[in-house]
Amino acid sequence: MAAAISVTPLVPYNRKRRPSAVKLRCYNGVEEDRKQWEKFYKRHQNKFFKDRHYLEKDWGHYFCHPKVLLESHPNFRKDQINVFVCNIAEENLCDHIMPASVDIVTLVFTLSAVSPEKMPIIIQNLGLVLKPNGHVLFRDYAIGDYAQTMLMNKNQVISENFYFRGDGTCSYYFSEDFLSRLFERAGFVVVDVNTYNKEIINRARNITMQRRWIRAVFRRP
Ligand SMILES: C[S@@+](CC[C@H](N)C(=O)[O-])C[C@H]1O[C@@H](n2cnc3c(N)ncnc32)[C@H](O)[C@@H]1O
Repeated sequence: MAAAISVTPLVPYNRKRRPSAVKLRCYNGVEEDRKQWEKFYKRHQNKFFKDRHYLEKDWGHYFCHPKVLLESHPNFRKDQINVFVCNIAEENLCDHIMPASVDIVTLVFTLSAVSPEKMPIIIQNLGLVLKPNGHVLFRDYAIGDYAQTMLMNKNQVISENFYFRGDGTCSYYFSEDFLSRLFERAGFVVVDVNTYNKEIINRARNITMQRRWIRAVFRRP
């Protein structure tokens, strides 16, 4: 499949080297990402990402009738859920799910974890399993977020808007334009895209954080 979006070329980066003087970091690929996320979940198990109830709060009306949903949950029922491990940047989702069989894909803080180079392939992959008129419900980090500024200040840049964190995982910060173009180039229609801000005050550390997230809905025609 052809990657349709142009991004800053990425070159291998050895994460074992200390991030001292060099400003622009390089990227070690999806296999390295997998190892870093495995370490992350070994360390935090399922305690790090809290359930923010996005599905009910923001997108409840998408779930009003029985739907085929691409997502997962630890309390799943085996007779209702098909659980599989898949690297969505490199494996074909149709090896696990029937083509054009899914009503809704939730993409919540997941696309930001992969290199922007891989994003077009992932979105095309999702398009293959979505039914016509199926939706992608998207939520992720927005450009200008407090955490982005921190990563920039610590010189943890891999490429434009893409950073590595202290724990070795990566994080991309989306603009509405970049995100919309990404999906449009994969043949999706933008139903809604917006950025929202929240000021969070940490009294213990005496800091005010401007957090920014992007949420969007895309439809497969
Ligand atoms: C920030 S976590 C978000 C987890 C979850 N969606 C949530 O909101 O709690 C990013 C997730 O992306 C997954 N991920 C990163 N690269 C991936 C890939 N190539 N294929 C499948 N999942 C990937 C990681 O395993 C990790 O669970």
